[in-house]
Amino acid sequence: MKKQKAQNSYTKIISITSGKGGVGKTNIVCNLACCFASMGKKVMIMDADLSLGNVSVILGIIPKYNISQVIYGDKQLKDIIISDSNGVLVLPASAGIPELSNLSEPQKIALMSRFDEFAGDMEGLGEPIDILLIDTGAGISSNVLYFNLAASEIYVVVTPEPTSITDAYALIKVLSLKYGEKYFRIIINNVKSEREAKEVYKHLSLVSDKFLKVTLNYLGHVLNDKNIPRSVIMQKPALSLFPDSKSSECIKKLAYNILSQKDNKISNGNIQFFLNKLLRAF
Ligand SMILES: Nc1ncnc2c1ncn2[C@@H]1O[C@H](COP(=O)(O)OP(=O)(O)OP(=O)(O)O)[C@@H](O)[C@H]1O
Ligand SMILES: [Mg+2]
Repeated sequence: MKKQKAQNSYTKIISITSGKGGVGKTNIVCNLACCFASMGKKVMIMDADLSLGNVSVILGIIPKYNISQVIYGDKQLKDIIISDSNGVLVLPASAGIPELSNLSEPQKIALMSRFDEFAGDMEGLGEPIDILLIDTGAGISSNVLYFNLAASEIYVVVTPEPTSITDAYALIKVLSLKYGEKYFRIIINNVKSEREAKEVYKHLSLVSDKFLKVTLNYLGHVLNDKNIPRSVIMQKPALSLFPDSKSSECIKKLAYNILSQKDNKISNGNIQFFLNKLLRAF
């Protein structure tokens, strides 16, 4: 009975991505996850940044295994998932994922059946997962593109730096022209004011409207806040260390906005479906 409930549950599958590196994706992902957990949601982060996966560093946790042990060893997905002190689950995929592109057909089939076991055994993780946040790498490499394509909602993080805006445009362009993605939510990070965030958004949407057939949506902003680098040093999300800080207030608003967003793609909100879609892309 419990299994049935887990399989039928709906998971919001969101990729947090960017054209330019270092714009704040991982901090936004970790703080949002912490916020969702405080709202009573079951949330999991998939660390999909293959070059510099550092979700666990920011959350102050030490993963024992990664996805390689699922592919090549005897571990199941639920064995490699760890929980932080706020109850946020982390799937430490980054260290093992590059090998996905080299998988043989039998290995892919074996991994698919591991994904099936995982979906059928979700109660091993407690309640079903409400939100899966995928922290992608930056840029337009195939790994970044595939994680975005497999997700149900794509959130692009942009800062006021002109290079961040042009690189965000480049990522949106590839995803729309080459892969037919139409909907992108935009998060503006590291701004002095909401007004500055709106200006950055206007800039990006003007060029996108002119040259691409896409729909952009302003989702919110995160103010520049010295508590964020401080929290990174302390290896805990800023939201739990400094809940009343200006960036934490922004994260709370962003979390509410995210919960009201509808899935624009034809997907069934199923983690197994997402994982299989991802695997087929490689
Ligand atoms: N709102 C903010 N205010 C102040 N500093 C911030 C803010 N957001 C992020 N930072 C700082 O920016 C740096 C990069 O953040 P983060 O690692 O989250 O970016 P990223 O996009 O995940 O980078 P990468 O592309 O390398 O994965 C960190 O030093 C972090 O402390
Ligand atoms: Mg990162």
